[in-house]
Amino acid sequence: MLRKLIPLLALAGTVGAISQTQAAELTLSCGAVGAELALCEEGVRRWEEKTGHDVNVVSTPNSSTERLSLYQQILSAQSGDIDVMQIDVVWPGLLANHLLDLNEILGDDVADGHFQTIVDNNTIEGRLVAMPWFTDAGILYYRKDLLEQHGVEPPDTWQELTDIATRIQAEERQAGNDRMWGYVFQGRAYEGLTCNALEWVASYGGGTIVDDQGEITIDNPEAAEALELAASWIGDISPRGVLNYTEEEARGVFQSGNAVFMRNWPYAWSLLQSEDSDVRDQVGVMLLPHGPDGESSGVLGGWNLAVSRYTGHPDVAADLVAYLTSEEEQKRRAIESSYNPTITALYEDEEVLTAVPFFSTLYETFANAVARPSSSTGDNYGRVSNAFFNTAHGVLSGDRNSAEALAQLETELSRIKRRRW
Ligand code: GLC
Repeated sequence: MLRKLIPLLALAGTVGAISQTQAAELTLSCGAVGAELALCEEGVRRWEEKTGHDVNVVSTPNSSTERLSLYQQILSAQSGDIDVMQIDVVWPGLLANHLLDLNEILGDDVADGHFQTIVDNNTIEGRLVAMPWFTDAGILYYRKDLLEQHGVEPPDTWQELTDIATRIQAEERQAGNDRMWGYVFQGRAYEGLTCNALEWVASYGGGTIVDDQGEITIDNPEAAEALELAASWIGDISPRGVLNYTEEEARGVFQSGNAVFMRNWPYAWSLLQSEDSDVRDQVGVMLLPHGPDGESSGVLGGWNLAVSRYTGHPDVAADLVAYLTSEEEQKRRAIESSYNPTITALYEDEEVLTAVPFFSTLYETFANAVARPSSSTGDNYGRVSNAFFNTAHGVLSGDRNSAEALAQLETELSRIKRRRW
């Protein structure tokens, strides 16, 4: 900080100007999944150089569920410890009361050019409580080389994925590759399982847990069938350990060459393609499979930047948000680390598309990803998601029959709904 203050003071000239240009010290929380933290720090460094302000970057737990409880603790204590926060696309409704309106500070057009659905998602009672930073959708990674060697085409349905994974896993093991698994995904009891399980359910035509009107829809035969197939994977094509996997554990297994298929977010791409990856140039990316009568349903994810209501530096903090979410930064993050821009024009940028070809081939998936029911359940979303992932986890673990578990979940959600939404 001192290092940056000196040139500012030297430039300032008068005492009045000194206090106006005094460097602020901010704290920003960033995620640390894969290369995320380094990418965030690099953006921050550029802004610090431009402005002379100082930012302390703090990393947060990788699990979105754990991050949320950390933020809720800090914000409910009205603490100004974190000025700028990276918030999940499902949190604006939960956290809105603690966040500043960025339209008020940065102007009404600050989010022009970003996906309108995300801007709407982040606008709570007319207030833009977070700027879109990157978007996400669940996608399927597969080993092109293995599918080719075993003479099979990539799967359209979950049943096909199961059959292909079973066969390649068995043949590879027989050939001495005894650590090979068919399919890895996020099966820990946390927000990531809500995303995976919702993808199974929605792609079987089983709805989105709660619909847009707030009606609970989860107790249906398609949803039960989807969860049943997923439960059959455990210990079969997926290691039992998957019940404790988040994004990074799944990537670890796939990147070291020990899985045929992986469900993950786009960030994994640039890491799979890195110099030290065991599967560099052997990976294909495609839509997630679907159920017998349904459609592929990649769930919408993504992260936004918000300014805490308890910050001592609202204007400087908002300026940092504007810079980090700018086209320049989103382009750098897309090219270096395959983070999906929220600025639509970047999906037509040649350099971006060369670095990440599936940003164009899977554009429709990103633009039309299936939303979790966070808007319809408002500040109850956390409870709804917890109930859903715990139910899915019980079914995957083999402790519960899927149809019964979903009937119980419906009752539990009705209880939550009666109290609040
Ligand atoms: C990704 C998504 C986020 C989601 C999380 C679940 O980070 O962007 O929206 O909640 O994964 O693990």
